[in-house]
Formats: sequence, structure tokens, C-alpha cells
Amino acid sequence: MSPYESIPELPPDPIFGLSASFKADPRPNKYTFITGYYRGENLRTPILKCIEEVEKWLIGQKISKEYLPIQGDQEFIDELGKLIFGDGMKADRIFGIQTVGGTGALYLAGRLANLWTHQIAISNPTWPNHWGIFSAAGLKTEGYPYYEKKKMQFDWCMEKLQSLPMRCSVLLHASCHNPTGMDFSKEQWLQIVDLFEKKQLYAILDMAYQGFRSSPDEDAYPARLFLSKGLEFAVTYTCAKSFSMYGERGGALYVVANSAKMLTAISSQLNSIARGIYSNPPMHAALLVKTVLKTPELRKKWLDELEEMRKRMVKIRKDFVTMISNKDPAGGWEELSKGHGLFCLSDLPPQAIARLREEKGLYLAADGRINLTGLNQTNLEQFVDALLEVK
Ligand SMILES: Cc1ncc(COP(=O)(O)O)c(C=O)c1O
Repeated sequence: MSPYESIPELPPDPIFGLSASFKADPRPNKYTFITGYYRGENLRTPILKCIEEVEKWLIGQKISKEYLPIQGDQEFIDELGKLIFGDGMKADRIFGIQTVGGTGALYLAGRLANLWTHQIAISNPTWPNHWGIFSAAGLKTEGYPYYEKKKMQFDWCMEKLQSLPMRCSVLLHASCHNPTGMDFSKEQWLQIVDLFEKKQLYAILDMAYQGFRSSPDEDAYPARLFLSKGLEFAVTYTCAKSFSMYGERGGALYVVANSAKMLTAISSQLNSIARGIYSNPPMHAALLVKTVLKTPELRKKWLDELEEMRKRMVKIRKDFVTMISNKDPAGGWEELSKGHGLFCLSDLPPQAIARLREEKGLYLAADGRINLTGLNQTNLEQFVDALLEVK
């Protein structure tokens, strides 16, 4: 008997599994709204000019291909840290480690939290991989209410957070909440920070979309607020979206602690965990990002390109909401204009999502999430009509 015989087959990943079905679909007028890629009006994921320039420059540099230290490229960690915390990075309260994408950062943050708590609260709904990452890190996951009927439910959310045990970890989306697009206002962030301070809750701020809502400085508001209030918390970061370099697996984890002794212990733990799973992180991602951030002309180019992406996201959301609200005035779609970033939730039931896919060749994620940048002026009306037909 084969040792593999008792291994059960698991269902495909809700995002990557569906993307494979999309690729295999032979219909010419199919469209995908599944994966969280930013796509331009031509529906392609751009390679940013600033990144292309660094890559051209790198060819002549003959940079050694030796391993990075376990902790990663220190210059990358420092540059990215300044982008997140601004001047706050100068305070000796932050330990940073480069990771394999945002997923690697979330996993490490989960393993760290597992050293004192066995529990994490995650917004309901959330990016589906959050559940799997934190379970894999050994934490018991539970949801806190966040969104229902096209609206953020702040009061229910606060009620649940208040009931959590002390020192419990809580995953918060820093901006452009995935999948709803609905973020806390500045006023609500202040209330959250107050509560976290009082209840000694441990925030893990997932920063996946810096610069997709507003400027990178503005989008760093939650991280800078937690830092300025003296709280101990963590920030997980992915370079995938903001630098449009998804497959390069750039990311980092920053842990804020209030004593040098604790920071040293944290550093030793995280280095040891990283060594046991991937040993050291990808050097190319770090080279690209640090070169853009520390070269003034490239940094300016990046900020301009980021703004261009942001403007398209704002416009396509507006075009979508205007068209669908005109065609279905009672549908409550206007609420979706309050969202930011790539996503909104369609609130379609699973049968309707299956019909869109099977009958129309339009692929949404299983939870009804729409990546709005899958729309352009060519397919917008086709998409809106199909959505209303299956609704
Ligand atoms: C909210 C959120 N966090 C983390 C990640 C993970 O980023 P990465 O692809 O770098 O692992 C994503 C990616 O889609 C995301 O949307």
C-alpha cells in the first residue's frame, strides 16, 4: 500500500484555483476580476518604468548572488521602514525583517504572536488567505464583524473587539480593505487605538496597498498613529501592489516593542523561524525597491506612477457605480463609491457568480469580490448588464 493512499485531496485555492480555470477557458470574450492585480486600461498588469530602469541598471552592476542574511537586505528594511513610519523609524523601537512577500510577513507575525497568545481575530470578510496563514502559524482564528449590506459595521466591530481577551492579536487592514474596499475613517482609527491601548490588544496591521487609497504618507496613517501612541504592535508589508512586482515576493515585517531587550529577543525568534522555513528572502525584490526609494529621480517616477494607478482606480470605480446605479436605481450600489483601492463586494449569491462564469465568461472570486481594474471602457457595460441579469 502506498504511503500516500490516506492523503485526502483538498479543494483548490479560492483565488489561484479559479484563475487556473480562467486561463483554461477557451472563450475569446472572457474577462477576469479574480486576482488582486492592478490592471491598466489595457487590462494588463504594468511593469513600472521606475522598476524597469533599475533592472536595466542592475545588469551592468555584477552584484554578487550570494545569500542575503536571514534578516534580509538591511538597506531595503530601512528604506521601506521610513516609507511606513516616516521619522518614527528613527526611534529605537522597531525591528524589521525582510520576508517572502506579505504572506511571509503575516505568517512570521502569526508565529510571533503565538509565543504569547493562541488567538487572532480577523475581519469578516477578509482576504481568504488570512485564515489559512494564521492557522498554519498555530493560532486559533475567529472573525470580527466588519461589513454587511454594502456598509462597514463599525459598532458591531468595536463591540466584538471589546470582548476579546487581553493581549489577543487582531488583524487590521491598514488601507483599501480586501475584499470590501471600506476603511476605517481617521476618527474611527483613533477609537480603535484607544481600545487597543485599554484592552492591551495586539494589532497586526496588514499594509498591502500603500498608495492605492491616497498618498503613501496618508496611507501610513494607522501605522504612524499606533507608533505615536506608544503601543506595541506589528506591521506586515507587501511590495507586490504598490510597486507592481507581484511575482518578485518583496515584503517585510516590522515589530514595535518598548524595550531594547525585548527587541533583541524578538529578532532572535524571528530569525530562527525564518531560517527554518525559507532560510533567507529574495534579493532581487529588495534591490528593486531600495534602489527606487533611495534614488530621488526614481522615487519621484514611482510616486507619479503610483498616482496614475490610483487615479485609474478612482475613475473606474466611479464609472462602474454610476452605470450600475443608473440601470438599477434601487440596488443600493452608490454605497460602493465609498470604497477605495482595487476591490468591492458584489454581494452576489454563489449561484449568480457561477452563472456569470459559466454563461458569460466573467470570473469573480468565490466571495463575490470584484477587482474593479478588470474593467475598462470596452467591457464595462457588458459586465454591468450581465451582473444585473444574474442578480
Ligand atoms: C490584504 C492582503 N494582505 C497580504 C497580501 C499578500 O501579499 P503577497 O502577495 O506579497 O504575499 C495580499 C495579497 O493579495 C493582500 O491582499
